[in-house]
Amino acid sequence: MRKISEENLKDALSGESQAHIKYMIYAEKAEEEGLKNVSRLFKAVAYSEFIHAKNHSKILGIIKSTRENLENAINGEKFEVEEMYPAYNLVAKSQNENGVALATNWALESEKIHLSLYEKAKSKVNFGEDIELEAIHVCIICGYTVEGEKPEKCPICGASRDKFKTF
Ligand SMILES: [Fe+2]
Ligand SMILES: [Fe+2]
Repeated sequence: MRKISEENLKDALSGESQAHIKYMIYAEKAEEEGLKNVSRLFKAVAYSEFIHAKNHSKILGIIKSTRENLENAINGEKFEVEEMYPAYNLVAKSQNENGVALATNWALESEKIHLSLYEKAKSKVNFGEDIELEAIHVCIICGYTVEGEKPEKCPICGASRDKFKTF
């Protein structure tokens, strides 16, 4: 692909990705305000942005086999766990930015678990097999992710048992 077209498509992919997330968050907010149709509109447009992001990703060659995708996901989570979030957290603490320190710590603790779950998946997918996976629960407050039993209390943020979304 010609360089400028490639760079443009990468920019578009990051814009569409951010728009997707933003609209999903806006949809949740609209729902909380009782605006069901606005919420539905945000969700529909978010899905459309997801389609655009997927199409751009395909052209950029980002979508590979699941084995390779897991490898890529592992590298991303590893970077977040080993470098990005510890550094961000340290800077936030040194600047007394308590909100940032908390958010980066919550993310760091979840990313560690994402990393190990992806590694577990890869160890099977490497041999062409799917993993055995129990229910996965995600804390809707901090993102803590756990396989199996829902904890009584979130070990990261202390949220109660009913604050988990199950996959
Ligand atoms: Fe993650
Ligand atoms: Fe939590």
